[in-house]
Amino acid sequence: MKILRSIPELKAYREKLVDSVGFVPTMGFLHDGHLSLVRQSKADCDHSIVSIFVNPPQFGPNEDFNSYPRDIDHDLAMLDAAGADAAFLPSVDEMYPEGADTFVVPGKIAERLEGAVRPGHFRGVATVVLKLFNLIQAQKAYFGQKDAQQVAVLKKMVADLNVTVELVVMPIIREKDGLAMSSRNTYLSPEERQAATVLYRSLKFGESLISAGEQHADVVKQKMIDFISADKLARIDYVSIADQASLEEQTIIGKPALISLAVRIGRTRLIDNSVV
Ligand code: PAJ
Repeated sequence: MKILRSIPELKAYREKLVDSVGFVPTMGFLHDGHLSLVRQSKADCDHSIVSIFVNPPQFGPNEDFNSYPRDIDHDLAMLDAAGADAAFLPSVDEMYPEGADTFVVPGKIAERLEGAVRPGHFRGVATVVLKLFNLIQAQKAYFGQKDAQQVAVLKKMVADLNVTVELVVMPIIREKDGLAMSSRNTYLSPEERQAATVLYRSLKFGESLISAGEQHADVVKQKMIDFISADKLARIDYVSIADQASLEEQTIIGKPALISLAVRIGRTRLIDNSVV
């Protein structure tokens, strides 16, 4: 696997590729969720490029940019074993040289849910993803449904700004007990790790209420809130039932609806979702 540490190195590598290119953007500390994207890219495209870049602008001032888990050597070994063709590892200075002050500002869709709790988060995500799209010039780019709002924001960006890349969205990869894989799971103590399954269990509970015929979003949301609140380690940021594309809250549950939630387990903030 080729390791590309700078933009000139990436450009020189990219220029020589004539066949189709798949791109998987990540912030590293890779797990099987990330690798599922790499595998799909390999299945679809002639060349697969993975970026690892912990992107400062998508972290709020009181968030975990500095402590975000990093293990580049392990990541590279995993990517190599998965058969990625190249890993792009730019520095912060390279991506944001002094004076860079142009940003992608997503619209309304970025103000709800995660955007309401993390102001500026999706501006940071959209900006770095568009920069990476411009640099890598892939035909397809792979994202996980784990970050459902990220997918909705980026689909809107691609449509609104006529970006010529196809977004491919892959299902959430989970641990055996249902916890969605996440680099941030490493923050959890053993007791918190057990409590963290409440996100998945509450989603399953919500789904069961809907399949038993409950149509009122408020009823389902309140029962999910009660379910989660019964766990003493869990603090809810939000529970939402929204239209999957616009992320507008639904009153009467219509399909496809996105049930999504953010819950703090101790100091770790976790998100999960399911489409019904
Ligand atoms: P990161 O959190 O590293 O995730 C990289 C990609 O892996 C995202 O598309 C995410 O949705 C996907 N992913 C994470 N956990 C997953 C799981 N359990 N199952 C399936 N896919 C999963 O998302 C980001 O980085 C950043 O915001 C980024 C897009 C790289 C921009 O900085």
